[in-house]
Amino acid sequence: MAYLALYRAWRPQRFSEVVGQEKTVTALRNAIKEGRLTHAYLFSGPRGTGKTSIAKIVAKALNCEQLEEGEPCNSCSSCMDINNGNFMDVIEIDAASNRGIDEIRDLREKVRVLPAQGKKKVYIIDEVHMLTTEAFNALLKTLEEPPDSVIFILATTEPQKIPDTIRSRCQSYSFRRLTGPEILNRLQQVADNDGIELDREAGRLIARRANGGLRDALSTLDQIYSYKGNIIGKEDVLDVLGLVDELYLARLMEKVLEQDTADIIAMLAAALGEGKEAQQLAREVSLYLRDLLLYTVLGDEADFIVVTESARPSLEQQKSRAERGQILQALRLMMDTADKLRFSEGNRFILEIAFLQMAEIFTRVEAKPRQVQAEVRSARPGGKSDKGDAREMLWNRLLAGVKEQKVPTHALLSQGKLLGARDDVLYIGYKKGYRFHKERMEEKPNRELVESVARDILKKDVQIEFIFLDDEQYNDIIVKKAIEYFGEDIVEIKD
Ligand SMILES: Nc1ncnc2c1ncn2[C@@H]1O[C@H](COP(=O)(O)OP(=O)(O)O)[C@@H](O)[C@H]1O
Ligand SMILES: [Mg+2]
Ligand SMILES: [Zn+2]
Repeated sequence: MAYLALYRAWRPQRFSEVVGQEKTVTALRNAIKEGRLTHAYLFSGPRGTGKTSIAKIVAKALNCEQLEEGEPCNSCSSCMDINNGNFMDVIEIDAASNRGIDEIRDLREKVRVLPAQGKKKVYIIDEVHMLTTEAFNALLKTLEEPPDSVIFILATTEPQKIPDTIRSRCQSYSFRRLTGPEILNRLQQVADNDGIELDREAGRLIARRANGGLRDALSTLDQIYSYKGNIIGKEDVLDVLGLVDELYLARLMEKVLEQDTADIIAMLAAALGEGKEAQQLAREVSLYLRDLLLYTVLGDEADFIVVTESARPSLEQQKSRAERGQILQALRLMMDTADKLRFSEGNRFILEIAFLQMAEIFTRVEAKPRQVQAEVRSARPGGKSDKGDAREMLWNRLLAGVKEQKVPTHALLSQGKLLGARDDVLYIGYKKGYRFHKERMEEKPNRELVESVARDILKKDVQIEFIFLDDEQYNDIIVKKAIEYFGEDIVEIKD
């Protein structure tokens, strides 16, 4: 028997086999049970999250001869033909290929032809955002007067590229990235079923790297299996994916924080010597920095990408040695470097320079927050240097200083909250309901008063920024910055 790629072999064949996407599954299954599907659906979401699979389940359910509670039976001739791709009335069009464009072109005549084999014709148009304007127009005309016997399921990874005219004629479902545990469970299930011994850490590593897509996770498992056989450990995953171990990353970061240039260069040379790619290294370091950054914000609640239990102690140590602003800066540097390395020949040199620059970041900026902390600490003999504490003390001193000079300003200020300091800017946040307070504080006399009190306390010029805490979740500006870099999906802030 020909070898069937795992991700194909494990395509869910009925709604109950789909991982996640609960809302979509329930809504569609109910609509099918009650016979109230509409003419056009738009499935949008990242790749490998189940769009095509669910489209096919819908197609089967519509044509199945013995529907069971909205589920296709997978054993009648319609279901079997659809599963084998031999069913004339389920037409899959890949808009990313030329053939797709041709097929759309004569769509308008073809849709009028009644189903030949089954009850409903189902057009599944994949990557629909790739259609040309001409093809979109043809599709639009069809969607405007859809024949009763036809259903369209459009799937896309980039819904924002689909014209509103099309979108407004579809019922939309968004597919979410699957969570680490969801992916891990499925991997384990596949492994158990196929006689693969998948070590827990190895599985976790694959799941984290899949970025929410089950197809990628299964393909990775497949790939490792074909190189390494059916006993798969963490090392095998690192090896096949060309990743470096988290402990290596932790140690490398250690050297960066210590500005130990010689060791940094030696460690890079060792990794490159083992055949790791410079770009991949820069990416891995970015992910590590991302984990470190999230750790400073969320502690153990953070959803890590590279760090597991083994490197956790290093994170803890590094958290106390680096400021968030520095980590953020280093992160940006590494991400830019990874980008640059994509097109570059002088790989090694670029990588080394970037690391030396990164080490620089951790010297240069380090002095500043220390100073703030030192000031605050000196106000409380024997006090801890904990960052949260420092912030609280600074806030209390600010409030007290303002109160001494102008009680009404104190009343306005005290409704806010000191979020943090970065690059000589103090950020003070107000909840949405306190617009009045925030706006009064932004007026020159009030702002200047706070700035002068802050200057007295910190012995340097600072600016004050008042911001709204739109959404409780995102009230940490550092988190906000992280979101700008990564997009919300990846940052995954937990309540
Ligand atoms: N939600 C899911 N539940 C179960 N398997 C999934 C899911 N999403 C993806 N897969 C796996 O990945 C493969 C590709 O999924 P597919 O439905 O084609 O994704 P998409 O169309 O969103 O890119 C499937 O054959 C299946 O093995
Ligand atoms: Mg697809
Ligand atoms: Zn059937």
